[in-house]
Amino acid sequence: CGIIGHVGDGNALETLITGLENLEYRGYDSAGVAVQNGSGIKIQKRSGKVEELKSAIDSSTLSGEIGIGHTRWSTHGPPTDANAHPHTDGTEDVAVVHNGIIENYAELKEWLRAKGYEFTSDTDTEVIPHLIQYYLDSGMDSENAFRTAIEELEGSYAVTAMVSDEHVLYAARKGSPLVVGVEDDEFFLASDVPAFLEYTDSVVYLEDGDVVVVDNDGIEFTDLAGNPIRREPETVEWDPEQAGKGQFEHFMLKEIYEQPTALTQALEGRVDPENGRIALEDLELGTFNDIDNVQLIACGTSYHAALYGSLTLNQAGIKSTALLANEYSVASPPIDDNTLVIAVTQSGETADTLNALRQANEAGANTLTVTNVVGSTAAREADDALFIRAGPEIGVAATKTFSSQAVMLSLLVQRITEDIHGTPAATEIESYLSELAEMPDQIEELLERSDAEALASRYEQSQSYFFIGRGLGFPVALEGALKFKEITYEHAEGFASGELKHGPLALVTPDTPVFAVFTGEEDEKTLKNAEEAQTRGAPVVAVCPEGHRAVDVADAHLEIPDTDADLAGLLANVQLQLVSYYAADLLERPIDKPRNLAKSVTVE
Ligand code: G6P
Repeated sequence: CGIIGHVGDGNALETLITGLENLEYRGYDSAGVAVQNGSGIKIQKRSGKVEELKSAIDSSTLSGEIGIGHTRWSTHGPPTDANAHPHTDGTEDVAVVHNGIIENYAELKEWLRAKGYEFTSDTDTEVIPHLIQYYLDSGMDSENAFRTAIEELEGSYAVTAMVSDEHVLYAARKGSPLVVGVEDDEFFLASDVPAFLEYTDSVVYLEDGDVVVVDNDGIEFTDLAGNPIRREPETVEWDPEQAGKGQFEHFMLKEIYEQPTALTQALEGRVDPENGRIALEDLELGTFNDIDNVQLIACGTSYHAALYGSLTLNQAGIKSTALLANEYSVASPPIDDNTLVIAVTQSGETADTLNALRQANEAGANTLTVTNVVGSTAAREADDALFIRAGPEIGVAATKTFSSQAVMLSLLVQRITEDIHGTPAATEIESYLSELAEMPDQIEELLERSDAEALASRYEQSQSYFFIGRGLGFPVALEGALKFKEITYEHAEGFASGELKHGPLALVTPDTPVFAVFTGEEDEKTLKNAEEAQTRGAPVVAVCPEGHRAVDVADAHLEIPDTDADLAGLLANVQLQLVSYYAADLLERPIDKPRNLAKSVTVE
């Protein structure tokens, strides 16, 4: 979900709506705003997209200098008008927007009901305005009422609240992201920086347990008990233009095309091919000399990057496993002082990944996060952080961040292996690093020449889509299928090539194209597996360089530039991203915001 709040001299409504539009990628099944207009709080909210909220708004009643807004992705109760935020105490004396989950809401609700407070929604959030109202009714001033209410909450929250006729916003954070934007005497509160990036690049990242009080005179940062704390603004180097779609029809396509730039940024200052040197100077952990096993934890697309990293480590002779973060709490491998746990997460806010990271921290592992978001919870909670520098990613389906994560992990693997074994993972490190340095240009070339659009239309009428790969091609096959199903809503599955014959082959028909990823690792075997599908009538699409033997055997070809076997899969992945994109476009799907999915899932 997304939160935006505004305090300033101008009209809040416009800022709130812009913020909600910028945040829609975080959640979009309902939206709402609340503004103080001089005669109390006025609220407009409804299920559906921000566009629908906009057409329902009567700006004459919603004008004022202070307000809050929210886009929702349901966790408690269906996406209805009543369940949309802001929530009130029923009288519109108090308005609240909230992200996260209040675990003790049922008890609080019962308690408040017994005191005569009436509830109108199914949400956990609604207990917050009622609690604030309860403390106001018992004689507290609004700041104390807010603090006392917050102290009663168990679970996770980013909360922003206002009280009728007071020119103040109150906010608190625990377990859900919240940031403050500052521009002279104008202030913004938001769940994520892109919400207000066109107004300011000066940002304060709040920590768990922080409470802020914002009025026209400034911001007061305190802990829950009210003790003042210091929080310094940081300058965010994201260009607001970058957060817009530019000439592309969808953010996803724009982000696919941004990969050369993203990778250049990821590699900048970190590789020196001529001397075979990797400089990860931002690493604070120092050396990995004492590490003897590595666990990578992640969800979704990031899990595929983690798997890629883990396989590379295994190939280099380092014990490593990639684990789905949401499975980690149930059965995590043993941890000791020599264990390194790497949390791979684009947003740095995925609840499943944060839980696994916390578990690893508690068990005494050395922890590191590979993330795109400086100041994110994962970056702050891990012992160390490596930033992939991909810039904001708006499309729900992750594209450029996968490539950047994988490249970042490739560098990290070289470094870890060098620290442990005395030599890097790649036998010819200079040539490996120069291939890596060429990757941005190679992707550029691939994007110019790709046949993905024609291929998507050729196989448009298919029933299912299968993706196979071996070794480092396996995570790419999984990622190819995930991307395809996420945005086309068509059935797609990724398999290790060798597994096809152990079950999935039963699904293969002339209506199930098989995309085979060739990375140079036992390609003969992968080709044999692809032919087994072809014999059963399935068209085979070979994703490989020109001149590869598979091109003659396959029914279609998606070309990738020649590169190191360890990197070929990452180029193949870009072709598969394009196939998914064009297939979804033909089906007229809402590519940037697929149904039922959210960019950042901050609940378990
Ligand atoms: C959500 C998104 C996925 C993403 C996953 C992990 O499910 O829809 O695209 O891969 O979260 O997100 P993270 O921010 O941790 O990489």
